[in-house]
Amino acid sequence: GAAELGPYRHYMQKEIFEQPRVVGDTLEGVTGIMPELFGDEAFRVFKEIDRVLILACGTSYYSGLTAKYWIESVAKIPVSVEIASEYRYRDSVPHPQTLVVTISQSGETADTLAALKHARSLGMTHTLTICNVAHSAMVRECKLAYITRAGVEVGVASTKAFTTQLAALFLLTLTLAQVNGRLSEEEEATYLKQMRHLPVALSAVLALEPQIIAWAEEFARKENALFLGRGIHYPIALEGALKLKEISYIHAEAYPAGELKHGPLALVTEEMPVVTIAPNDALLEKLKSNMQEVRARGGQLYCFADVDTQITSAEGLHVIRLPEHYGLLSPILHVAALQLLAYHTALARGTDVDKPRNLAKSVTVE
Ligand code: G6P
Repeated sequence: GAAELGPYRHYMQKEIFEQPRVVGDTLEGVTGIMPELFGDEAFRVFKEIDRVLILACGTSYYSGLTAKYWIESVAKIPVSVEIASEYRYRDSVPHPQTLVVTISQSGETADTLAALKHARSLGMTHTLTICNVAHSAMVRECKLAYITRAGVEVGVASTKAFTTQLAALFLLTLTLAQVNGRLSEEEEATYLKQMRHLPVALSAVLALEPQIIAWAEEFARKENALFLGRGIHYPIALEGALKLKEISYIHAEAYPAGELKHGPLALVTEEMPVVTIAPNDALLEKLKSNMQEVRARGGQLYCFADVDTQITSAEGLHVIRLPEHYGLLSPILHVAALQLLAYHTALARGTDVDKPRNLAKSVTVE
């Protein structure tokens, strides 16, 4: 009811603004990297595995894709990420030393549960879930678990569940790295410090809301949008496009920016807003030339640029600056800006933000 919403117009908006707190809650009490955070048997299991298979649906699948970049880069363990509804029905090659990780807000998604059982039937018994509901089928079915502390999420379009999953998956990354002898004490201390600072960094991104509202008013008049990201932010571009589709009904697609020239560039006209995630990372120069390709064709760029990127507004290029560059944890910040863009675009279009047509919060049937 209205009392619960407080100053917010919708649950989705309230849940977006809860993120600093619930990301903090999810990492609360983590004073050091310890496998036991994932369960009593975690150390033994993590020692035994030499690859990771992530199974999930929807937004949870995109947190899994982000984790692949993290785990391969920090822990040096190969990761595959599969859409649960595909994995359960395809022939795959099982490998017993696999850590099977399911990611689920509800812990009840039928396809994810079935994919987990399928993996187990193929002889993969090392199972871990990252789940937001402690008393759920997923937690019961998995040997190991990390419970995210997003609290109840009401909005059908997932927001705080996603960022808390990312926080938990980053913790998993560091834990696997440590067990694998890839994490020095110094690195551990640096990452822990960054994780503790996340709530403050997230709040600073949420403070960009007024600038994002101005963009949303322009987006509300469009019927299509492209989202570009590279590397670790490609899954964030996918999630940004999904959010916009789900609640504003604007057709949106995400591409890794280097792939533009292999197709989507054909769609770029003055009518096509192109949202670009521009963190100050090793791919920045490449990204700038991808942006140039869009501008040369009259496309309108809407760029979320980290403070130190030197990308400034110009003809056909709109820039909102994110206050800090956050290294590996940057996806958690950039996605919050994209959630606000989707929310305010939907609001401007007058859709039912918390209950988009044809969608359900939790899909417990196939
Ligand atoms: C539904 C929801 C999505 C969610 C997906 C997976 O489609 O609308 O927000 O990402 O299910 O749900 P899960 O509970 O397994 O994360």
